[in-house]
Amino acid sequence: MTEYVIEGGTQLYGKIRIQGSKNASLPVLAAVATNHIDVDMFNCPSISDCAYTLKVLELCGRHVQRNGDLIRFTGDPLETDISVGEICQMRSGILFAGAVLGKCKEVKICSPGGCDIGPRPIDLHLKAFESLGAKIVTEGDGIISIWGHKMAGTSLWLDYPSVGTTENVMLCAVNLKGITEIHNAAREPELVELQAVLNAMGYKVSGAGSTVITIIGGRDETITSCTYTICADRIVAGTYMTAVALTGGNVVVTGINSEELASVSDVISNAGCYVEQGLGWIRVISDGDLHRVRNITSSPYPGFPTDMQPQTMAMLAKARGVSVIRETVFENRLRHVDELCRMGADIMVHGDTAIINGVDRLHGSRVKATDLRSGAALILAGLGADGKTVVQDTGCVDRGYQDICGDLRSLGAEVIRLDEKA
Ligand code: UD1
Repeated sequence: MTEYVIEGGTQLYGKIRIQGSKNASLPVLAAVATNHIDVDMFNCPSISDCAYTLKVLELCGRHVQRNGDLIRFTGDPLETDISVGEICQMRSGILFAGAVLGKCKEVKICSPGGCDIGPRPIDLHLKAFESLGAKIVTEGDGIISIWGHKMAGTSLWLDYPSVGTTENVMLCAVNLKGITEIHNAAREPELVELQAVLNAMGYKVSGAGSTVITIIGGRDETITSCTYTICADRIVAGTYMTAVALTGGNVVVTGINSEELASVSDVISNAGCYVEQGLGWIRVISDGDLHRVRNITSSPYPGFPTDMQPQTMAMLAKARGVSVIRETVFENRLRHVDELCRMGADIMVHGDTAIINGVDRLHGSRVKATDLRSGAALILAGLGADGKTVVQDTGCVDRGYQDICGDLRSLGAEVIRLDEKA
């Protein structure tokens, strides 16, 4: 158990370079299982989901060497039974199904785990594999065996623009004969990253970032190595922008693509902060006196990201007036409401909608992180609360934040984690 201890009431000032992206690095790492070329990867974040993913890559047969910020991958990934514990630890483990299936034409995998934010089915992933010609058998213990010796490219339509399903189809289809077209594809920036690394590996993928992605199966075999740098994490950037909005202060986040944060910047600016941006940076200036924002609805990109919903709720808990947030992406992603209310927030939930009646003060309390982003939200609430807050966490925050305490301390916050080394 980790405990984050926060003394609230300090404003944040300074400049912070944002860590590598969790949601970009996980599919990019899965792409390393699609072929045998040597890959040098930079800026992969030091978070627990990446550590699990590196173990899965080793199991697949990749040799993984770390040297500072560089991770070098060599060796041929030929193992098809990856029904191991590491896959069950994280939602993105399912991406190895597509990567290994496309390369080896069969895979055995276990049902993926991840944060507890409601049911996280994989029906869309399996339906997409079937459209490509795969045969699937699910056993009672959650083991899924997939055979794809007759698979080939085709045109398929996703019932929902699922990020993971779009990535899985890309990872599989690059090694299939023929052309695959994904219609109603997810448009998140992480898809553009995955397309870029696949093309650097010699595959032919186009259209990522739009609703139709085209994959021409096969790889340019003259390419024997590639180097790739993971982009900055837009959700970590959004978390720190929201933190300064809540506490007051003046902070610049750098190393980011500011366009990817447009919906987050809009909400922060609608709450009364000054937001300025340039190439690769965003500055937030706040006097901490926020006002309500009505009608925030989480939705697929370029809509407001569900991964910023809990942090934004923490911010609006102290904003004057009544704010409304609707969560439409995940079914059970409002569990942080009870914890925020322990800190004095006044929030009512009706179905998928939270009605936030802003209060003047939050007070420090002992609260529990229920998932990755709720943990971040509670740390933010602690920064804006009077007195001491203790956020108890069973490893949720480490899934996505490399060093949230160090980052916030560098901006002046008083926050420590009790299991951290002195
Ligand atoms: C990814 C992100 C996650 C983010 C989410 C939405 C990673 C590692 N994770 O998760 O941080 O919150 O996108 O932006 O990139 N669904 C089904 N059946 C399926 C697949 C999905 O019903 O087979 C549903 C999910 O339950 C959810 C919705 O579709 O309600 C969105 O899921 P999806 O876009 O697939 O999210 P992930 O890829 O899991």
